[in-house]
Amino acid sequence: MGFWFQWMILALTAEFLIVAAEYFKPFNVSYDHRAMIIDGKRRMLISGGIHYPRATPEMWPDLISKSKEGGVDVIETYVFWNGHEPVRGQYYFEGRYDIVKFVKQVGSSGLYLFLRIGPYVCAEWNFGGFPVWLRDVPGIEFRTDNALFKEEMQRFVKKIVDLMKEESLFSWQGGPIVMLQIENEYGNIESSFGPKGKDYMVWAAKMAVGLDAGVPWVMCKQVDAPEYIIDTCNGYYCDGFKPNSDKKPVVWTENWDGWYTSWGERVPHRPVEDLAFAVARFFQRGGSFQNYYMYFGGTNFGRTSGGPNYITSYDYDAPIDEYGLLSQPKWGHLKDLHAAIKLCEPALVAVDSPQYIKLGPKQEAHVYRENAHSSGQNLSFHESKCSAFLANIDEHKSATVKLFGQAYTLPPWSASILPDCRNIAFNTAKIGAQTSIKTVRFDDTSYVNNPVNLQMMVPNQVARISETWNSVKEPIGVWSNSNFTFQGILEHLNVTKDRSDYLWYSTRIYVSDEDILFWKDNQVSPILTIDSMRDLVYIYVNGQFTGGAKGKWIKVVQPVNLKQGYNDITLLSQTVGLQNYGAFLEKDGAGFRGQIKLTGCKNGDIDVTEFMWTYQVGLKGEFLKIFSIDNNRSAEWTEFERDAIPSNFSWYKTQFDAPGGVDPVVLDFGSMGKGQAWVNGHHIGRYWTLDAPKDGCQTCDYRGSYDSNKCTTNCGKPTQAWYHVPRSWLQAADNLLVIFEETEKTPFEISIKSGFSETICAKVSESHYPPLHAWSSPKITNGTISLKTMIPALHLQCDAGHTISSIEFASYGTPRGSCQKFSKGSCHAPNSFSVVSEACRGRTSCSVAVSDAVFGGDPCHGVVKVLSVEVRCSSSSYISSASMK
Ligand code: GAL
Repeated sequence: MGFWFQWMILALTAEFLIVAAEYFKPFNVSYDHRAMIIDGKRRMLISGGIHYPRATPEMWPDLISKSKEGGVDVIETYVFWNGHEPVRGQYYFEGRYDIVKFVKQVGSSGLYLFLRIGPYVCAEWNFGGFPVWLRDVPGIEFRTDNALFKEEMQRFVKKIVDLMKEESLFSWQGGPIVMLQIENEYGNIESSFGPKGKDYMVWAAKMAVGLDAGVPWVMCKQVDAPEYIIDTCNGYYCDGFKPNSDKKPVVWTENWDGWYTSWGERVPHRPVEDLAFAVARFFQRGGSFQNYYMYFGGTNFGRTSGGPNYITSYDYDAPIDEYGLLSQPKWGHLKDLHAAIKLCEPALVAVDSPQYIKLGPKQEAHVYRENAHSSGQNLSFHESKCSAFLANIDEHKSATVKLFGQAYTLPPWSASILPDCRNIAFNTAKIGAQTSIKTVRFDDTSYVNNPVNLQMMVPNQVARISETWNSVKEPIGVWSNSNFTFQGILEHLNVTKDRSDYLWYSTRIYVSDEDILFWKDNQVSPILTIDSMRDLVYIYVNGQFTGGAKGKWIKVVQPVNLKQGYNDITLLSQTVGLQNYGAFLEKDGAGFRGQIKLTGCKNGDIDVTEFMWTYQVGLKGEFLKIFSIDNNRSAEWTEFERDAIPSNFSWYKTQFDAPGGVDPVVLDFGSMGKGQAWVNGHHIGRYWTLDAPKDGCQTCDYRGSYDSNKCTTNCGKPTQAWYHVPRSWLQAADNLLVIFEETEKTPFEISIKSGFSETICAKVSESHYPPLHAWSSPKITNGTISLKTMIPALHLQCDAGHTISSIEFASYGTPRGSCQKFSKGSCHAPNSFSVVSEACRGRTSCSVAVSDAVFGGDPCHGVVKVLSVEVRCSSSSYISSASMK
């Protein structure tokens, strides 16, 4: 290669790098008592949480763009220390842990980034983000004034700040990072450490600021945060929150828009009307930065789930669901809310604090009106910047209130946003956005049901799991010469170092003739007792499964069958996600505490605690990596016949073809027991089919304060049956599926499914507020903004790769009911169906104006009309090929 040519390439690459690295013109970030100040301007900011390792890098761009489209300005994430430093001093920043790539993608999409370094993060993440090796540093005490801990923490925090600097990712370098967090909700546990707690907190704050990151730092739930750190609010509601100094803005770092779930529990949902109410109230009462925890929750792949006992899905009922699809109407209603807040931003930032107007016993207004004089101009009422929020906190009754002489009706537990102090742009309880109902099923059933599609069926569009399964049995107890023997019971994590969930403990007990006779004569059996254990134990006697228990520091009482002579007692202790919350995590440990005894023997209890125990960490299949493409052949698999009797502790493998199209893919493990699964060597996580309690899933009423026991689903069903397999882990055919199953379940019912929003509905009234884009060009007559001429519209949008294939219901008039239960009312425009069909059929998305003109005149004079529509979306390829015929 010639010198000039090489030089040119270098120069071009260098130029490209400079251009690519700078996402914004470098800008400063600071704050005052009212707001964050970005590049010299106060801003009202909407932030959305996305934890990068809970998705794949291939999913990130779509998640970020869906966030942006939803009206989010900032992406928030924690930093996951144990993912980045699995072994002390050995850093990992690749794959799902490629944080630099993630931050760059956020920047290149024009969004800001809020980096919560922690490095304790909680987050329902294994060990709260701490690497497990940290607990092995002799003398270490976490999150307190302990030199060893502080040294490790500082090293990691500095590593991250330096990395971000090297990559020019801070705002002043032209990068997207505008804010950082140190620690996480330390205020909750500070007092557990006495005076050392406070010392540590102050040290953490100073240390962070000392790293010269050049953007503001926050501490959440830290009422005593020093003056140079913003103390912020976390919770379901943060309106009325006051930081600890009048120099700091009101920041909400975690707005819990749903909640996490444990195995065997109900699945929580937070109604979007209540969520929107909380957000509107926050900005109404002076808030300036709000972050959804989570905007996309994602999946706890591998063994990243915290605990104990948190499920693999981290869907969180977030606006973007676990698989990356929009969760509607949540996403859409919040998008409308964000647009309304944005319309108010000029007035909100122009005013130091709002004017409060009491409107009724449980009704109030906050008005942000720029002082006409302070702007140096003599502005009339409608020309000055003025935005108002009206709230009705009454949980039961709607209320009619008056503001500036005009009457407004507010549904219960709702807030209205008036960007011009006159016209309502948004009410938190009135949803105009579409509802999407997702169907997850075998990819091929749709073709079976639909003869047209059946003809169109293309081989790789049928998801097929091979009928052939192979199995190999996992040994019970010791399987390798890495086992060792020790007198006494060792703490679980001290032995496993969390390299596996599983730890085998085996010992031998001698039983005499006398004991056997004693048990026979008295018709009793001996009992094995464990004083205290977590998270799960299986008990084997002489190789036979005898019983088990699950819980957190519970006592185990297990009758056992023993024979005369030596009996092998094998206990399998399991962790199901390490503790992620609380003080003294390093002392928490896992496995057994106290004594293990055999009670009910003739000569009194036998204390087996101090016996010789043989220890074996993990599973043979796990350590030989028989789930990986390269190593799976190292196991001695044999074909597992459909009618074979399954035994517990078995590995199974098969192959499957990926469903065609772009829809998210899941494995349905509803027929299985408990275990872990890998696809093409990727660990998709733990699975467990524990059912949620039968009762307690009430119909959901958005009104009134939310907590995670409200609006739950899945009663009597497995908490989680579907397990996400990211598309990028799949190839079209012959994907390797390996599972490890702990119970006696057969794998033949496992299926591959894909899901999408098949049914979409929307219901919009002609009295609904005008579309928000109308506000960009309002009609001004005699100085009064008139939005009356703006017509509300109904919007529908299928998921990517889908188009509207049929109209199931359409009625302009007075239709009744809700999605999937619509029916015509007494007033109905006869052409409703044809109008909607014309506008929507065959399209990915469509809009229909809600007005008489569109439906050929007024079908019933003097009545407020509503347009209700239900459509079905189908895979686009089928429609286009069907219509090509
Ligand atoms: C918060 C914590 C988060 C997360 C959340 C519950 O207290 O800061 O990390 O654990 O609770 O989802």
